[in-house]
Amino acid sequence: MIDLSTNFLGLPLRNPIVASSSPLSEKVETAQKLEKAGVSAIVMYSLFEEQIIQESLKLDADLERGSHTYAEALDYLPQYGRYSVGPEAYLNQIKKLKDAVNIPIIGSLNGYSPGGWTEYAKKIEDAGADALELNLYYLETNPKVTSKELEKAYLDVVQSIRKNIQIPIATKLGPFYTALPNFANHLVEAGVNGLVFFNRFYQPDFDLDTLEIIPRLVLSSSDEMRLPLRWIAILYGNVKTDFALTSGVHSAQDVIKAIMAGASVTTIASHFLKYGLESATEIISDMQKWLEEKDYQSVAQMKGSMSQKAIGETAAFTRANYLKVLSSY
Ligand SMILES: Cc1cc2nc3c(=O)[nH]c(=O)nc-3n(C[C@H](O)[C@H](O)[C@H](O)COP(=O)(O)O)c2cc1C
Repeated sequence: MIDLSTNFLGLPLRNPIVASSSPLSEKVETAQKLEKAGVSAIVMYSLFEEQIIQESLKLDADLERGSHTYAEALDYLPQYGRYSVGPEAYLNQIKKLKDAVNIPIIGSLNGYSPGGWTEYAKKIEDAGADALELNLYYLETNPKVTSKELEKAYLDVVQSIRKNIQIPIATKLGPFYTALPNFANHLVEAGVNGLVFFNRFYQPDFDLDTLEIIPRLVLSSSDEMRLPLRWIAILYGNVKTDFALTSGVHSAQDVIKAIMAGASVTTIASHFLKYGLESATEIISDMQKWLEEKDYQSVAQMKGSMSQKAIGETAAFTRANYLKVLSSY
């Protein structure tokens, strides 16, 4: 029997297929179906800094009823779906999922600025989450703010959360850093136990009829995993932490590539949303078959085998490869 088990953030997992932060954790029944389909852990949808701040503004507004100071702030968030529910409902959902399934539940906080909202990390821990995924996301548009200042703010967020909780922390990042390895190292020094590469940015579109900026969520395709694949392959063994690959994982082959780059797990949303929860079972059994055919005994055996460190071919991952790719067309 092939051993698909892995370990992420110190959590022993039966395989590297994790349900990514998304509506997949909104319903208890969905979580149970994911567990039954073989998924090894579930990352909750995020609780956003804006939601937490809005909740505290609401409390202040209640105290100052009659003044309309907060009306604009209260209109800021969508008044529908999971983002309109308060942080308490989020904590309750963690408890419900923990009661309903045996696989680890990873809470998710999404924000960017140091401040009181980070105290929710402790509440997520107290609600029973096995780990915390901290999604650091801000798009700086001010030409006067330097990358160093922004990175410092992120590190302050990480440090203040690290001080307050015992459970492992993974940081989910975007790919757009001038010196990603250096920042990754700083995050690890600040106490994160794993890095999740990469956040998918949902780019706004223009509606040419109404001349409005419209949000448009498009699910991922397999090609998108090349960016996190490359970075995990570069950093594996160089930055001493665990890696999770997210974005564009749609098949057993994609999972295998991620492991070979050095990821401990892949976190998947689009594929499960598009093809149903049972597709997890198919990916797992395809993995079993592939490993068997290629005479691998375990996932652990192939971890990092295609990383830059293992193949010793730096050029394949850096600039020289650029010319090779262009001339391959
Ligand atoms: C509908 C939807 C909702 C999502 N919500 C969140 C979220 O609340 N927090 C978060 O960190 N990522 C969120 N994501 C991003 C996913 O967790 C995942 O990282 C991303 O979709 C890339 O993985 P995929 O290619 O398997 O979809 C969401 C994705 C989708 C499709």
